[in-house]
Amino acid sequence: MTGRIPQSFIDELLNRVDIVEVIDARVPLKKSGREYSACCPFHNEKTPSFTVSQNKQFYHCFGCGAHGSAIGFLMDYEHFEFPEAIEELARGVGLDVPREADSGDHQAPPQRDSHYAVLERADRFYRSQLRDAGSAVEYLKKRGLSGEIAGRYGLGYAPAGWDALTRELGGDRHTQEIAVELGLLVRRDDGGLYDRFRDRVMFPIRDRRGRTIGFGGRVMGDEKPKYMNSPESPVFHKGQELYGLFEARKASQKLERLLVVEGYMDVVALAQFGISNAVATLGTATTPEHLERLFRTVPEVVFCFDGDAAGRRAGWRALEHALPVLKDGREARFLFLPDGEDPDSLIRRIGYQAFHEQTVDCVPLSQFFYATLSQQVDTRSVDGRAHLVELARPLLQKLPDSVFRDLMLNELGKHSGLPVAQLTARVFGNAPAAAAPAPKRRPVSSGRSPVRVAIRLLLEQPELSGCVQDLNAFRDLDMPGVDLLTELVEMLREHPHLHTAGILEHWRGRPEERHLAQLAVMPLEVSDGLQHEFEGAIQRLAEQRAAQRMQQLLSLDHGTGLTDPEKQELKQLFAARHPML
Ligand code: GTP
Ligand code: MN
Repeated sequence: MTGRIPQSFIDELLNRVDIVEVIDARVPLKKSGREYSACCPFHNEKTPSFTVSQNKQFYHCFGCGAHGSAIGFLMDYEHFEFPEAIEELARGVGLDVPREADSGDHQAPPQRDSHYAVLERADRFYRSQLRDAGSAVEYLKKRGLSGEIAGRYGLGYAPAGWDALTRELGGDRHTQEIAVELGLLVRRDDGGLYDRFRDRVMFPIRDRRGRTIGFGGRVMGDEKPKYMNSPESPVFHKGQELYGLFEARKASQKLERLLVVEGYMDVVALAQFGISNAVATLGTATTPEHLERLFRTVPEVVFCFDGDAAGRRAGWRALEHALPVLKDGREARFLFLPDGEDPDSLIRRIGYQAFHEQTVDCVPLSQFFYATLSQQVDTRSVDGRAHLVELARPLLQKLPDSVFRDLMLNELGKHSGLPVAQLTARVFGNAPAAAAPAPKRRPVSSGRSPVRVAIRLLLEQPELSGCVQDLNAFRDLDMPGVDLLTELVEMLREHPHLHTAGILEHWRGRPEERHLAQLAVMPLEVSDGLQHEFEGAIQRLAEQRAAQRMQQLLSLDHGTGLTDPEKQELKQLFAARHPML
């Protein structure tokens, strides 16, 4: 039973299964309005932001962004592989899972690989190479890592030489293109290919779901560069991902705290010593997106930095990014390490218990905040204290309205000697602690690109695909998303009875899946007149296509001149645009 599961079966299965029952059996749901809700099983929260839509057969958490179909839910919640999730759902509704027979026909073109599939093949290859590579195993042993930990983090080895992975991936052009796009292979000027990662210990970087999305590779000697990372790609966004987050969540059902460190090796070494909640950025500074993701996962984040000036600067940057997301119940703390140590070396020296105590018992954000600002002024003078208020003001304004913000103001009172009421007026204007207006989620139809509007509406009401009279009127429009829209319309014409989740399953594993899922949960403020809205968007696309084509023809006309049919076309475009002429 190794053949592919036919897409038509997946469509049918999702039409039979009810996602509400599937989830309710594992996470009891409460009905609220048209949807069902619960506290999210994928992050820690006290008020429910996890919602399940029976209509769309789709779940979504507004807190952590988790989302998907019944299949996706079982993959994330039960850690099932895709076929296992299908088997489980099919069992529930009494269906047998059919498999497409392996054709056995060697003429058949090799199956086209997606980015994830190519990464998975590379990952498997590097891991298999580690078993045979004495030098890499020696190196990991020397760094004090066990086979168990190497396995948990999926460490591998990229062989020396220039073409080990190139040969492993084979001659399929499409696969090669993807491998180049992923930065696994590099294309030489003469068109040949070679391996980017050579003779390095490989750290696979995984996304929330455990899919490998990139790699970091470390040399085993003193060569430079010490670390090499995969470049940005359609599936790898360094500013958003955190190394070790998947493994940390897998190690504990209910994570309370995450530890942010600087290196991959730190993450792995800490896990070796029993601290399995460390994550690292991918060789970049922490971004606001990182902070957002961290606090969606846990209420408490501890930043581990070097104790030197550079480490404190990096700590300050993390603090600035943390301020806007510090709602009540969230806490950030800072652990500055002794000179010359990183978490890897420190835990080896002092052991689990002492290290753990330091992470529980380190500097609160408020203390780091006022200690840093106070160093920049002389708090003994009136001028200095006034200056302190001015330095603190723009930063405190970033905090959401919260008890924590009040406490920070109290603290400013202590340092500046000003009464809190006065400070409140100074920092937040006269309205005491005016709440910053909650960022409003933009409705889909306001000033959005017609492509997004059209896709969003199709996800809401797939039958609208029938309203598209002429795909050719816009399919050549040069605008992001048009290809996706065209493909979606074509797919829906063939499968008009899919609901939202069923549609998304058609894009599983493709980069567009993420965009579709984001659009699917975007609030829709038009509740009737969907068809009118949809036709309007399609109309605008056709107009933009006509305008684009006219420009094209006009510049051709100025350049090489137009053929007769092109002249004809231009005339028609003009006539349509200016019916009076
Ligand atoms: P070890 O020397 O193996 O202990 O590494 P480490 O984990 O202690 O890393 P280090 O503190 O030297 O660097 C922290 C992180 O910065 C690494 O995990 C990489 O992501 C990144 N980094 C370090 N050196 C380089 C480099 O030469 N090039 C790039 N691109 N990134 C690097
Ligand atoms: Mn180190």
